[in-house]
Amino acid sequence: MDKVIVTGGNRLVGEVAVSGAKNAALPILASTLLSTEECRLLNVPYLMDIATMERLLSCLGAKTQWEKQKHTLSVRFDQVENLEAPYELVKTMRASILVLGPLLARCGKARVSLPGGCAIGARPVNLHLAALEQMGAEVRIEHGYIVASSKRLRGNRIRFDVSTVTGTENLLMAATLAAGTTILENAAREPEVEELARSLNERGAKIRGAGTETIEIEGVDRLTGGSHRIMPDRIEAGTFMVAAAITGGEIFVRSALCGHLRDLILKLRETGCEIREESEGLLVKGVRRPKGVDITSLPYPGFPTDMQAQMMALLSVADGTSVITETIFESRFQHAAELRRMGAFIKTEGKQAVVSGVEHLTGAPVMASDLRASASLILAALRAEGETEILRVYHLDRGYEKIEEKLSSLGAKIVRIKEN
Ligand code: EPZ
Repeated sequence: MDKVIVTGGNRLVGEVAVSGAKNAALPILASTLLSTEECRLLNVPYLMDIATMERLLSCLGAKTQWEKQKHTLSVRFDQVENLEAPYELVKTMRASILVLGPLLARCGKARVSLPGGCAIGARPVNLHLAALEQMGAEVRIEHGYIVASSKRLRGNRIRFDVSTVTGTENLLMAATLAAGTTILENAAREPEVEELARSLNERGAKIRGAGTETIEIEGVDRLTGGSHRIMPDRIEAGTFMVAAAITGGEIFVRSALCGHLRDLILKLRETGCEIREESEGLLVKGVRRPKGVDITSLPYPGFPTDMQAQMMALLSVADGTSVITETIFESRFQHAAELRRMGAFIKTEGKQAVVSGVEHLTGAPVMASDLRASASLILAALRAEGETEILRVYHLDRGYEKIEEKLSSLGAKIVRIKEN
């Protein structure tokens, strides 16, 4: 397994361009199942998760074609040759569950492996399944697989107990071809949900209210293909914003959409960062020592759980104590133990982590446990004195395109050691 070695102490200065949003591209790729025509996606990031989704779609019968130099991926389902999303693919990427709704809508049948838990939590999909049953699907679990069928999904009024991003996306896609109208209440409001709805409407769907907690979908008989440019990745943008903050540097994050980063901008300004919002992106100037702030992760538009680990790294070196409350996932503090190995002073108890800022972190061998935890460890390593060796960086490759190159271009001392 590859590892990354970072020598800390450099201020990061310069400009970095944000890639396309992983969590927008994944549902939109799954939605290509809903049409027999070609869908052409632009600004698709080169990530492990995207490659896994492409493999899954090909396994279902898609013809796919990359125009590599343009980050453009075309997908066409002339026909669906296979109705099963196999365990060996789903276990490597939970977002595979996103083919369930489209498969049911297009073919009336689906057999999708139940995603297992992951490092950050149990992450059940019960809300996806209950909602599909409310649209008339018959759903049962057999040998670890979701086996679902429905002659034709029927529109219904569905309320999610908990705001679920992929749950909302699954039902949004399923409802586009259902008979009648579906209302999703307590729907997720994430920008990626809105982007999926936008792309579906461009292809003939009739969706209103995406981005709010109530979405109305009027079923149609068919969707066309189309071309869609994926929006910039707000979590990658946020990660580079924290890189400027934790190194006391100055980074222009090109293509970052300020409107998707309101809570993070607010919190970073509270730590003392100067942030200038521009039409083409945003400029972040860090300070020598950030101030401690309290963070509570919430569904969008609240503070994003996917930025919690990165902020914990920053707050580890803050002047003061910070309380981080993680309300979305039940075990998303695994990075805390690794940050402690670097000298951070963090006490975790249930949903809360109390971070007492220290003057200095020191480099150490540490282990990545999940995608955003890996980013957190890299950020801490950029600040730490000496060398940090981060193991299991395959987690990073799932969600960050060429992160070592991007950080090196900003002045970071970072190398990847390929291990067979
Ligand atoms: C999406 O995961 C993202 N993944 C996650 O990003 C992100 O952390 C998460 O939303 C929260 O914003 C993609 O979009 C591919 P949820 P998702 O369903 O949809 C509970 C990353 O780093 N829940 O919104 O799986 C669940 O346990 C990833 O790119 C149920 O109980 O998250 C959690 O506590 C990590 N039953 C809460 O809801 C269900 O049926 C929110 O989960 C579904 C969810």
